[in-house]
Formats: sequence, structure tokens, C-alpha cells
Amino acid sequence: MAKTKVVPARRIRGEYVPPGDKSISHRLAILGSLAHGVTRIHHYCPGEDFRSTLQCLKTLCVPIRVSRDTVEIYGQGLYTYRDTGDVLDAGNSGTTIRLLAGVMAGQPFTSCLTGDDSLRNRPMRRVIYPLSLMGAQVEARKGNYPPLIIRGGPLRPIRYVLPVASAQVKSAILLAGLFARGVTEVVEPVPSRNHTEHLLQAYGARIDVADGVIRVEGGHPLRAFGDYVVPGDISSAAYFIVAAVLLPGSDLVVRNVNLNETRTGILDVIQRMGGRIEVLERRRVRGEWVGDIRVRHSPLRGTRIGRDMIGRVIDELPLVALLGSQAEGVTVVRNARELRVKETDRIAAIVQNCRALGMAIEEKPDGFIVEGPQRIRGGTVQSFGDHRMVMTFSIAGLLSQEGVEIENSEVVGISYPSFFEDLHRLVEPA
Ligand code: S3P
Repeated sequence: MAKTKVVPARRIRGEYVPPGDKSISHRLAILGSLAHGVTRIHHYCPGEDFRSTLQCLKTLCVPIRVSRDTVEIYGQGLYTYRDTGDVLDAGNSGTTIRLLAGVMAGQPFTSCLTGDDSLRNRPMRRVIYPLSLMGAQVEARKGNYPPLIIRGGPLRPIRYVLPVASAQVKSAILLAGLFARGVTEVVEPVPSRNHTEHLLQAYGARIDVADGVIRVEGGHPLRAFGDYVVPGDISSAAYFIVAAVLLPGSDLVVRNVNLNETRTGILDVIQRMGGRIEVLERRRVRGEWVGDIRVRHSPLRGTRIGRDMIGRVIDELPLVALLGSQAEGVTVVRNARELRVKETDRIAAIVQNCRALGMAIEEKPDGFIVEGPQRIRGGTVQSFGDHRMVMTFSIAGLLSQEGVEIENSEVVGISYPSFFEDLHRLVEPA
């Protein structure tokens, strides 16, 4: 088990290119495996979660070639997975298990999906229920947890109003919809990341999106389009962006980062708090905005994150605790109960770790309240097996007086194996 100490920093400066987006990488591999033709995924997410998706697809006998910079997926159509009887192991990845549940619901055989200790304790009823309405038979441990046994087969279309804002649930239903006869509709009360919709369009699916309603017509083949260069992951870049906003004298240019409006909640939060972020260049690539931004240090004031915003900043909320602790006034995060069912209970983990570093933070059932500015003394924190806790509290280490030691820091590899090297390269020690 690795332990990493992050020492106090003076500032962060230079040019930074984030690793490939995790959400987009998963979706390209899965859709590529169902399309006719080759999908070449350049600048793919280097994390273990994406490896889990590739491993599951290999278990289903999808031809895949992996090199240093490119993954090639040789798709042959919607019904070309092979039933080997082997278990599909999604590892730590919620996106892998939930999206594949949607696909396996449409396959003419029975499959078993599972994952690691953390994943086997994450709720799956949210996908089991709509997939059952579509006609799949799904069994789960205690009706809610992996392993999932999915008896796939012919599906019927449904209209489904999402009870929780979740891109994974939305995507599972849309993917199952590819196998249903007719039009499947998903109604989204608040926006969540829409990469599945963009990519379904790129693969030639019959899909239509209007006013929070997504319609996909099943029974039509998908066509691969060849090459796709994955934009940088804003959820990985966010740690560097927040470090630049909070460390005096910082000036960071982030290149080639995904600026999809369903993902840029963290930039809006920072700007609303008074932070300086400039978009230097922006271009559109297969439906996704990609661009370069410049981030400089600036003093911040507290803010309140509203319900409509939560889905657009869900994975960055741990960082909002740090932003709030350094801002003048009160920062409130509520309506974020979903954080309790991520890779760990992120509300409990944030609160416990902040307190271990000498910070004051109030825990709420659905979020937290933090008042600033306050000093971060430093100390030792736990990773809770959660990559985002490792990265969040590394940034706390940069801001701290005595440094922060992070236990089990190796789990950073779930999304970002070279996180510490990149941090080391850009940060000037105090
Ligand atoms: C993801 C969706 C989000 C997010 C996760 C990635 C995706 O989860 O937290 O890190 O790629 O669809 P939910 O859909 O459960 O909100």
C-alpha cells in the first residue's frame, strides 16, 4: 500500500495537458464494439477503469488492439458478442457495469457482471428497474448490488423519467434502447453529461434530443467513423485548475480540455466565486466542445451550489470543499446525496479528511457547509479506496502548512496514473 506526502507549494505555473476523458473513452469502446467497422480511440483515458471496460469487451470476444496511444475496437454489429460464460469484471468502475448492463439486457444470452468490494456495494436498482420494464430479467444480490445476472433478450421500448440525475442510468437505458423495437424515451429533469447522446449521433443512431427528452429508435445498425481523439478530462484537470486558483502567483494554461457544458460546472462555480478563468480557444469535435483555458490565482468569496448545478459538477464537489475553505464567507453544497453512493461515501470522506487536517466543516445528509478563509494545518488522510479523495487531498497538501500524507494513494490509478508526476512537474515547492 503506497503512502504519498504532498508538501506545501508556492504556486503552480506552466502548460498542462490533461489525460483523455474517462467518460468518453468508456462510451467509445462500448459503442465501437456494437458498430460496424473500426473505432480508433486516440489519447484514451489511461486509468484502470477504462481497462476494465476493455477487459469486459475482450471477455465478450470483441477484437481489440491496444497500443501506447491508441485503442482499436473492431466492431461487427449489435449482436456479435460471444457467450463464453466468463464473468464480466467491471473492477471499480460504475460506468462500466451500468452501461454494460444496458447492452447485455439486449443480448440473446445470460451474463454475469461484477466488480471489486466498492462496486459490489453500489446501488444497481436504478438500472435494474428500467431494464426490467424493457423486458430484461435481472437478478442482483439483495435486489440491488452486484453481481448482476442479466438474462437478455428482445426488449420493448419505454418512456422513463429519471428519478435521480444520472448519466450512467440514462446511458444504460439508451444503450438498451438500441436493441428495442421502437422508440425509447428518457426524460431528464436536470442535465447530466451527454457524451452518450453525442456519440450515438456520431455512430449514426436514430437519436433525437429536445428539451430534456432523449429519443432513440432501436433495431438499426451503428456505423463506425474511424478515428476519434479523446479530449482532456476536465474532471482530472479540475485538481490543477483549483490549485492554480488557490495558490497566489499561479498562472496555468490547460490545453485540449473537454468544455462540454454538461461538464463545466466546476468552471462556473469558480467564476461565480470570483475566480479568473479565461477561455483562450474553443472548437467543436464530433459534438464535444474542446479548448484551451488560462487560470490565474484570485481571491474568492463563498457560494451556494443549487440543485440544477449538481449534475454538472458532481465529480468535482470534493474540490468545492477546498475552494470554500479558502473563500471569504460560507459555501453550501446541498442536494448532493448522490455523493454518498460513489466509489466511497464522499460526504463522510470529505468531512473526516478535512477534520484530520484541522479544518472545520459541517456535514449534512445531502452535502456540507464550509466557512472560510481557514488555514489547513496538514496531517494524514485516508483515500477510502477512492481516486478522487487522493487527488482532492493532494491539493489540500499544496495549500497546507505542514503537508498532507495520503494513505493508499495508489488508487489514483483508477482514473489518473500519472497524477503525481504531473503535479510534481508543474508545482513550485514553497
Ligand atoms: C459518469 C457519470 C456520473 C459520474 C461518474 C461518471 C459517466 O455518475 O459520477 O464519475 O461516465 O456516466 P452518475 O451517472 O451515477 O451520476
